[in-house]
Amino acid sequence: MPHPTDGGDDTPSLDPPWLPTDARRESLSGEDSMPEPEASRAARWGMVRDQIEARGVRDPRVLAALRRVPRHLFVPADRFDEAYADRPLPIGFGQTISQPYIVALMTELVRPRAGDRALDVGSGSGYQAAILAELVDEVCGLEIVPELAGQAATRLEQLGYTNVRVRHADGYGGWPAAAPYQVIVVAAAPAQVPAALVDQLAPGGRMVLPVGRGNQTLRLIRKGADGEVKQLDIAAVAFVPMVFDADR
Ligand SMILES: C[S@@+](CC[C@H](N)C(=O)[O-])C[C@H]1O[C@@H](n2cnc3c(N)ncnc32)[C@H](O)[C@@H]1O
Repeated sequence: MPHPTDGGDDTPSLDPPWLPTDARRESLSGEDSMPEPEASRAARWGMVRDQIEARGVRDPRVLAALRRVPRHLFVPADRFDEAYADRPLPIGFGQTISQPYIVALMTELVRPRAGDRALDVGSGSGYQAAILAELVDEVCGLEIVPELAGQAATRLEQLGYTNVRVRHADGYGGWPAAAPYQVIVVAAAPAQVPAALVDQLAPGGRMVLPVGRGNQTLRLIRKGADGEVKQLDIAAVAFVPMVFDADR
């Protein structure tokens, strides 16, 4: 039974604020001044309503970000039709773009806010980075597959995201030069929580990641203002393993 929405009409308006700037609107549509096709916009609003709100994600800022970011532009062209389906999709190199609900849940758990800096580990297609970029001031993305890192960086730039950097690196070490981060989202499962990521979490910061080999648990880690770290297991999940650079 779906949960009721938190308020307001969730029908797409004729002129929704799905893109904040004309520049981004033009680059997303691929043709100057062309609005997004109704079919993909309707599919995205349906995704948010039926897969995400229905499962209990309520943060209106997170829901709005999921309605804005055109997920179909983050999947291979031959997967456009499946972009809003309730499952992960292949993005090449043996990797996937995560299921929309999982992206929404992880984003809600880390409570991204204006003024925050976020670290996105395992950027893959760049979709999670784009969602975070809608919600925080700055996003730093790390991706271990160099081709995916390059594609994600190019895609995000073309879509007009000026507050995201994606670089090819092993996420186990984080991105110390830009630390600390108020928000860290990890989209691949290490056997244990990487110590460098905990170190790079700001006081008051929130990190979410899948942990474990075989059985995995989605874990929320919060660092108090005094530096104390608290962990909470949220749900069983199935992510690709977080690999070491040496494994590749
Ligand atoms: C579930 S997928 C990507 C989902 C991605 N957040 C998105 O929105 O498309 C997980 C990604 O983690 C990457 N990955 C695995 N181990 C990694 C590591 N040690 N450092 C950085 N990225 C890693 C994989 O190459 C893969 O692209």
